Amino acid sequence: MGRFFIGITGASGHAYSTALVRELVRAGHDVDLSVTDAGAKVMAHELGIDPGPGGEGLADCLGEWLGEEIASSVRAFPSAAVESPAASGTALTQAVILAPCSMGTLARVTHGFSSNLVERAADVALKEGRPLLVMPRETPLSEVHLANMLALARMGASILPCTPGFYQHPKTLEDLVQFVVAKALDRLGVEHGLGARWGESEPQEEMGIEAKGGAR
Ligand SMILES: Cc1cc2nc3c(=O)[nH]c(=O)nc-3n(C[C@H](O)[C@H](O)[C@H](O)COP(=O)(O)O)c2cc1C
Repeated sequence: MGRFFIGITGASGHAYSTALVRELVRAGHDVDLSVTDAGAKVMAHELGIDPGPGGEGLADCLGEWLGEEIASSVRAFPSAAVESPAASGTALTQAVILAPCSMGTLARVTHGFSSNLVERAADVALKEGRPLLVMPRETPLSEVHLANMLALARMGASILPCTPGFYQHPKTLEDLVQFVVAKALDRLGVEHGLGARWGESEPQEEMGIEAKGGAR
């Protein structure tokens, strides 16, 4: 199966990256991870997992964070480790995902800064014409945020904001996280069993929409 790279940044929403890593591994894939300096602080704050400055200690936290079984399919690299595989186009990374993506990383990727491994991996995806999935988290959005997203979309990246829908009647925070992660997995072409698909569950019937003919 493939190897995905997930760059975790200093935006809020580390529940999304956690669920995404788990689902990619459950689907049989390997995952490379790197967390930015700010991302390490937000991870400690939101998840209670402290990977240390620049994510230097992330590899040692994987079991505690993800459980040993998932962790065995995950490699972690400090964000300063620009000598890591994902920094080179010769490494066949199936897709690069920035989740959650801060406005800072969004700006630097849009303008090719490559100042750490997360930004460089995204830069490599763009130059190699490989999938780059950007999952921004910020609100409200300024003109510069919107301009950067448009520019990246025009370069071929997919912009998938961390904005869950409510039409499937979520009951828990996990349901909301799963909604976004399911959309990400769909975009990456990864099979999953997260959540119901519209037209295959009750809410449509509640809205008075009747299926006509054929199998449902
Ligand atoms: C608790 C916390 C939550 C944050 N949430 C966001 C956010 O949702 N979006 C964002 O763009 N920045 C957010 N920030 C600010 C970024 O962490 C900051 O701009 C940082 O420089 C981004 O660095 P990075 O892009 O290298 O990860 C947050 C900071 C903290 C401490």
